[in-house]
Amino acid sequence: MDTLEAIQTRRAIRAYDPDHAISPAELHDLLAAARRAPSAFNIQHCRFVVVRDPALRRELRKVAWDQPDVTDASVLIVICADRDAWKKDPARYFNGAPDDVKQRMAEMIRGYYEGREWVQQDETMRSAGLAAQTLMLAATAMGYQSCPMDGFDYDAVGRLINLPANHVVAMFVVIGKGTEQAAPRVGKLPDGEVILTDRFPPS
Ligand SMILES: Cc1cc2nc3c(=O)[nH]c(=O)nc-3n(C[C@H](O)[C@H](O)[C@H](O)COP(=O)(O)O)c2cc1C
Repeated sequence: MDTLEAIQTRRAIRAYDPDHAISPAELHDLLAAARRAPSAFNIQHCRFVVVRDPALRRELRKVAWDQPDVTDASVLIVICADRDAWKKDPARYFNGAPDDVKQRMAEMIRGYYEGREWVQQDETMRSAGLAAQTLMLAATAMGYQSCPMDGFDYDAVGRLINLPANHVVAMFVVIGKGTEQAAPRVGKLPDGEVILTDRFPPS
């Protein structure tokens, strides 16, 4: 499947075959794809919590509006991110580059994030969104269905997965063998409302 076909055919699917298991090799490929998603300054602050424990999946479902896909999909990944990644030895994000490049990039990272808490926060969500979509497109290309989810209690999820300090939970992505057809696409806004040229019209 080519990329455009994966983009066109990916849909949010909510019903899954609970008996289907994704192989370790497929899971590895999915996560490897997610890790190819870009991050500003390559700081890679996403953390992918693959929830394998069925009891924990049941607990997560309870705090996620009882959505069945939380327990029934073959894979549940909680995409989290570290707000402090920018200050954790940032030169390592350029390991393999010449030393002067590593030092220069580490200084740029510090200059960009230090004292700018809103950027530290926003960047986690930018990265998580890109990772989630990359993951779902990879799943589509591999013949699986998926759904992004944020219908849950963030604090409760954080407690259940032992979220470390200064990390955020961004969203769940479930992946598996869907057992329902996607409903027809509805409600897509007209291009004229969402695609602009140069700038917004004066208000
Ligand atoms: C950040 C985010 C959170 C979402 N949360 C949920 C969710 O909790 N439960 C659910 O069934 N769908 C959820 N969705 C799926 C959307 O409802 C779905 O993507 C949207 O209706 C468009 O449908 P499509 O993805 O099939 O094109 C979420 C989507 C996004 C991007």
